[in-house]
Amino acid sequence: MNVIEAKNVTKIYKPLDFWKKEKIVAIRNINLEIKKGEVFGLLGLNGAGKTTLMKIFLGLLKPTSGTVRIFNDTIENRKIRERIGYMSELPYFPKYLKAYEILDYFADLFNIDPKIKKDKINEVLEIVRLSGRQNFKIKAFSKGMQGRLGLAQALLNDPEILFLDEPMSGFDPLGYKETRDIIIELNKKGKTIFFNSHILSEVEKVCDRVGVLHRKEIIDVQPIDQILKKHKNLEDYFINIINDEKVKK
Ligand SMILES: Nc1ncnc2c1ncn2[C@@H]1O[C@H](COP(=O)(O)OP(=O)(O)O)[C@@H](O)[C@H]1O
Ligand SMILES: [Mg+2]
Repeated sequence: MNVIEAKNVTKIYKPLDFWKKEKIVAIRNINLEIKKGEVFGLLGLNGAGKTTLMKIFLGLLKPTSGTVRIFNDTIENRKIRERIGYMSELPYFPKYLKAYEILDYFADLFNIDPKIKKDKINEVLEIVRLSGRQNFKIKAFSKGMQGRLGLAQALLNDPEILFLDEPMSGFDPLGYKETRDIIIELNKKGKTIFFNSHILSEVEKVCDRVGVLHRKEIIDVQPIDQILKKHKNLEDYFINIINDEKVKK
């Protein structure tokens, strides 16, 4: 069963500079299907359009043309939004707040029943390995801990699909491993995970399938085990496919 279906999705941004009038085509004719229960990794160079595509899936941006179905429905439907979680590229939290206070605030935004709120916050803190840090202020949090707090926030509504935009950027190797373990655990609990990352060694370890977004288009989608039959690792595959495209142009 597909939980996300994109058909001919194109996004053209308005010109940033009034005088230039040049429109920016961010992504073009994207067709992509994400299956229930899979971990899907979207690869692409900086500026390839990964964040744009994710924001369209989330309903934060409207496609210029094309359609997106989430759970065979439209993302405009509030009931559908309740079933997804999102961690943005650079989650920002006020430094003077405590981790618990931040999750408490988001729990209210999610309309979580006050009777179960405390348990829910403790549960997500435990999933992201931040139990015991709930009374630390964000200014005492490392980048990795802030990233994990971003993930905790995305888990508060117990989403069926998790969208993670560069969940490991700026982390150290221990941070990679912790995030990877959390993603695997969440997936075992049945969650579908769609994420972008440049850390190819990690993508290789967690994903079932990957797609490559290059020059605004999806140029390949494959199960990771197929890729690893032909390439020594994901990095080797990625560099090859990007270089091949350069030769074609
Ligand atoms: N709000 C915006 N207005 C105009 N151009 C944008 C906007 N957001 C992104 N872009 C452009 O769209 C392209 C794709 O960006 P993005 O989706 O952020 O790529 P990625 O996440 O793969 O790095 C880039 O050329 C970027 O400069
Ligand atoms: Mg991005």
